[in-house]
Amino acid sequence: MDIIPAFELRKQYETIRHEVESVTARIMAGGSYILGGEVSAFEAEFAEYCSASHALGVASGTDALQLSLMACGIGAGDEVIAPSHTAVATFAAIEMTGARPVLVDIDLARYTIDPAHIAKAITPRTRAIIPVHLYGCPADMDVILEIAREKELFVVEDAAQAHGAAIHGRRVGSLGDIAAFSFYPTKNLGAFGDGGAVVTNNSELAEKVRLLRQHGWKERYISQVKGINSRLDELQAGILRVKLRHLEEWNQRRRQIASLYFDLLSKSDLPLPPRPSDVEPVFHQFVIRHPRRDALREYLKSQGIQTLVHYPLPVHLQPGYANLGLGRGSLPRSERAADEVLSLPLYPELTEEQVRRVAQAVLTFPNR
Ligand SMILES: Cc1ncc(COP(=O)(O)O)c(C=O)c1O
Repeated sequence: MDIIPAFELRKQYETIRHEVESVTARIMAGGSYILGGEVSAFEAEFAEYCSASHALGVASGTDALQLSLMACGIGAGDEVIAPSHTAVATFAAIEMTGARPVLVDIDLARYTIDPAHIAKAITPRTRAIIPVHLYGCPADMDVILEIAREKELFVVEDAAQAHGAAIHGRRVGSLGDIAAFSFYPTKNLGAFGDGGAVVTNNSELAEKVRLLRQHGWKERYISQVKGINSRLDELQAGILRVKLRHLEEWNQRRRQIASLYFDLLSKSDLPLPPRPSDVEPVFHQFVIRHPRRDALREYLKSQGIQTLVHYPLPVHLQPGYANLGLGRGSLPRSERAADEVLSLPLYPELTEEQVRRVAQAVLTFPNR
């Protein structure tokens, strides 16, 4: 039986091997390896892709979030509101600044932060909201931006899973005050290692991130402010430039695959991914829910189909964050999502036949 993997990075590499090899050979022969010409060129191209004025290459998506918050002046004594159903990185980045993360529940239909819960969590110490555009579907930004404007809060988009997703035709990364992207290899735009970017239309915030990402240096070895070391290297930037040229075609292919899944799975009564009006998702994941998720996952495995769970525990129930004091039952929709979500294989190289095989297996799962 042919295995259908949960993701398959080598196939994509084969389609761009020649472009990547010539770029990496040129960079290695060039003698400049960190924050050089490739990084600047990628920053300009990625900013343009997001319809934003500035992009700054950093070492990871987690760092991009931390640096975005630091640029907004957020630190000890401040509170930042974020969803609990997210990659733990969202939360960890807030903690790294010294601020207190305030976790709230999600809208289960969209898997993103519920604006009604944001409003209830705001205190005089709140400084920012982090909407996470989870699975490639933008959060409900119209309402979130309205709340933020009214309460004078920063909106830091966690766009790690949503390169190219848009609302009303405007791409994520240019919707809030500042945004963080990850180029972890499995992302829609992935490097061959770690990488990230901060994107913003605000020149002042951009300049702060430029300082903060490299020890607060404007001039080498002179720290104007306390910063961190979070730099993007030339090889990753060169590879990202190659891949950025293919991103639209790959996102389009993801949408086609998603559309086939929607057609085939519409026969089932399972909750399928959100498709809010005025939103163009990029299907970083195709997530379904099932009350017997683990049994379905085992069944699919027995049919040669690998799946993933994003994420098996909400942040507030992670053993490492037990000090939060939020027990089971405190954020019920995040907990239900963690118990029931299942990510089916979805990547541009998946064939129509493979998609049909996955959908057929989901539909034939016994004893639903
Ligand atoms: C929603 C979300 N936020 C933040 C991150 C952190 O990105 P990185 O792994 O590049 O640090 C990730 C990726 O893992 C993510 O999926």
